[in-house]
Amino acid sequence: MKILVVGGGGREHAIVAKVSQSKKAEKIYCAPGNAGISELAECVDIPVMEFERLADFACEKEIDLVIVGPDDPLVGGIVDVLKKRGLKVFGPDQRAAILEGSKAFSKDLMKKYGIPTAAYESFDSSEEALSYVKDAKLPLVVKADGLALGKGVLICNTREEAENAVRQIMIEKNFGEAGNKVVVEEFLTGREVSVLSFVDGKTILPMTSAQDHKRAKDGDQGLNTGGMGTFSPSPFYTEEIDSFCREKIFQPTVDAMAKEGREFKGIIFFGLMLTEDGPRVLEYNARFGDPEAQVVLPRMKNDILEVMQACINGRLNEITLDFTDNAAVCVVLASDGYPLKYEKGIEIKGLSAFSKKDGYYCFHAGTKKQDGKIVTNGGRVLGITALGEDLKKARENAYEAVKWVDFSNKYYRNDIGKAIDEA
Ligand code: AMP
Ligand code: GLY
Repeated sequence: MKILVVGGGGREHAIVAKVSQSKKAEKIYCAPGNAGISELAECVDIPVMEFERLADFACEKEIDLVIVGPDDPLVGGIVDVLKKRGLKVFGPDQRAAILEGSKAFSKDLMKKYGIPTAAYESFDSSEEALSYVKDAKLPLVVKADGLALGKGVLICNTREEAENAVRQIMIEKNFGEAGNKVVVEEFLTGREVSVLSFVDGKTILPMTSAQDHKRAKDGDQGLNTGGMGTFSPSPFYTEEIDSFCREKIFQPTVDAMAKEGREFKGIIFFGLMLTEDGPRVLEYNARFGDPEAQVVLPRMKNDILEVMQACINGRLNEITLDFTDNAAVCVVLASDGYPLKYEKGIEIKGLSAFSKKDGYYCFHAGTKKQDGKIVTNGGRVLGITALGEDLKKARENAYEAVKWVDFSNKYYRNDIGKAIDEA
């Protein structure tokens, strides 16, 4: 099969790496890709939002399967454009990707179908939102309705913060059109877990669990980022919790989407909070997580192309997912200053250390080739993943491997996976 992967970050590197292990894969293209991906796939310089150009390319190369990584093109309707041109695509169409694209939609869906989530109200007028937060219970969470790079969620401990959050999102439009509506939500406490799952419209197959670290600094301090590191599996996601989620959250979500005439095919990523009263959905994503994919996919034993084809053909019930009985930890190496201001174009040294080591992966997120060297090209630069027989060993291995590569403004969190010590 000829495959085109759309995207160019760490998640797409992990996807390309997994696809390259499939016996079915003859040739892999990636648009736009990055320096690491170019070792495994032919990178094509087409931006992810240029759907017609991507369609032209895929038709010309007679691509058998297009795999879409990021949220923006999915929510923007890339799958519809490619399908119209007769291409096979892994990912939800626009009507289904709204599950991630609108938090007001997903909250209303959960309310209508009794799927456990935080209590909320949504507003499309700033006056109404402001008047609501005047006497709502604190702390509360104010969320921009649309996509905001994971940054449109503001946790507010005081009334002043809540009012400012509404103003920033709805009046100052800090997140653009994503702030036309807001969701104001009850604040939940507990452990967070991510469960990514394959969906074919009817059947859902959850993968092994993972946990992200969204804040920039150790001890969950600093600004929210796209994700600074992950581990898998989560020791807090027990079998009992898993059974509850399958019955009360996962299957009901898939069935609800089908009932709404928005049949979902692709990946549903459940962001869950394990509260004292049981698991609650914090958010849905319509794609693999980044950097969740970097710990989940290295542990997957299945041929990913077989699973993706089963999703497209509605035959996921014939598949059993299988994961290795070990653990993985991914530490993100970022450019100092991320997620705000940072320098790019800095040479990365030591990358060859990964080429011969089983159980260690260096997923490129923001890198490019320049004058024969590999240089930094983004806030998140590399995702260093290591496997181990258990989480502690995987973490030790990951932090060992973090030392193998260097660039002058390298920054990372020292406490990825620290929570496992409490398990
Ligand atoms: P989201 O993009 O909706 O997952 O929100 C980003 C992050 O904000 C989550 O990973 C949580 O850490 C936090 N968050 C979101 N909603 C809530 C909530 N209702 N209660 C507490 N924390 C939340
Ligand atoms: N790591 C969180 C996300 O991909 O949304």
